[in-house]
Amino acid sequence: MSNENHINRRGVLMVPLMTAFLPLLSSSPIMAQTTHRKIILDVDTGVDDAAAILIANIAPSIELLGITTVNGNTNIYNATRNSLFIKHKFSINAPVIKGADKPINGIYVEDKKFHGKDGLGDAYDMSATNVSIPNITAHDFILKTVNDNPGDVTIVSVGPSTNLALAIQKDPSFVKNVHSVVIMGGAAGFNGQMGNVSPVAEFNIFTDPEASDIVMAADWPLTMVGLDVTYSAPTYDSYFDELIKSAGEAGQFLKNINQYYINSYEKDRGVRASNQHDSMALMYLLHPEIFTTRRGKIKVSTESVFSRGQTIFCPENHSFASQEGWLERPVHQACATVNSDAFLNLFRRYINMYKNKEI
Ligand code: RIB
Ligand code: CA
Repeated sequence: MSNENHINRRGVLMVPLMTAFLPLLSSSPIMAQTTHRKIILDVDTGVDDAAAILIANIAPSIELLGITTVNGNTNIYNATRNSLFIKHKFSINAPVIKGADKPINGIYVEDKKFHGKDGLGDAYDMSATNVSIPNITAHDFILKTVNDNPGDVTIVSVGPSTNLALAIQKDPSFVKNVHSVVIMGGAAGFNGQMGNVSPVAEFNIFTDPEASDIVMAADWPLTMVGLDVTYSAPTYDSYFDELIKSAGEAGQFLKNINQYYINSYEKDRGVRASNQHDSMALMYLLHPEIFTTRRGKIKVSTESVFSRGQTIFCPENHSFASQEGWLERPVHQACATVNSDAFLNLFRRYINMYKNKEI
């Protein structure tokens, strides 16, 4: 499967020239990133969201403009408090902005199991967290930040897409001002990958399929990082034990919050390992060369109870007999494979950067 290229907002062909140097990624210092990216990270902080926040904060090539929160892994209060706890614990400058407390259709069913009652693995007493936040909604922050920086901001969404959909509904023209969008969500079905909430639906999409379909129907450079790749690099207890030695407090933090998450996966999938879905979406932005992608159109099913939340992927070069509904949809791309060792080494190298940072 060829590694297709990314056409950025200005139509410039972004060819992943580093593909030839892939083997070096596992041993050399993190490649000096030539592209400096301003990003908004949209989270439903949860355990794997936490690692993505840490990496987005410390990656030299990223300027983290804001962390917007949405209900998903946990309710909006917890998602926002958890993000603030991480912000204060690791001296993160980016503001945390509270977002949607329910999906577009208004129905939110809180899952108190997978990420713990508090949403962050029930690993810390966060009762003293300073929970003051700016007086702006997440979707208004997204609109203002993007429209004030036309063509420069990438949105990395690692929770349900409610905030992005609300932004599009309020100002559809903002889509043309976004540099690119990376979505952790969905399952295109590559290599037979199924959903994790239903046979066909992934959690972020399933939580707000109406919002996800608005996002997938928008004409912006979008990359879907789905379960097709995010289950490829499981993180075992031993991985976190090593991280404590190499990264100090940041490693210990990830070890602590992942214990509950690993236990959830052991019950759910029979393997004592967690999956860093959200960091993998961010890693696509940082190191696209460790992924292969496929270009195509994406429809999110919202109708049937059996297919609700399914991300239906229609490859760009297929002319199926039935094209109804597809013709007006824009072409996006979805990740098909990832170099798992490179991901795990890069994840470790970014977290190790906290070792010598004043926390
Ligand atoms: O299906 C995995 C996704 O759902 C991840 O973003 C995880 O944090 C949860 O939000
Ligand atoms: Ca998430």
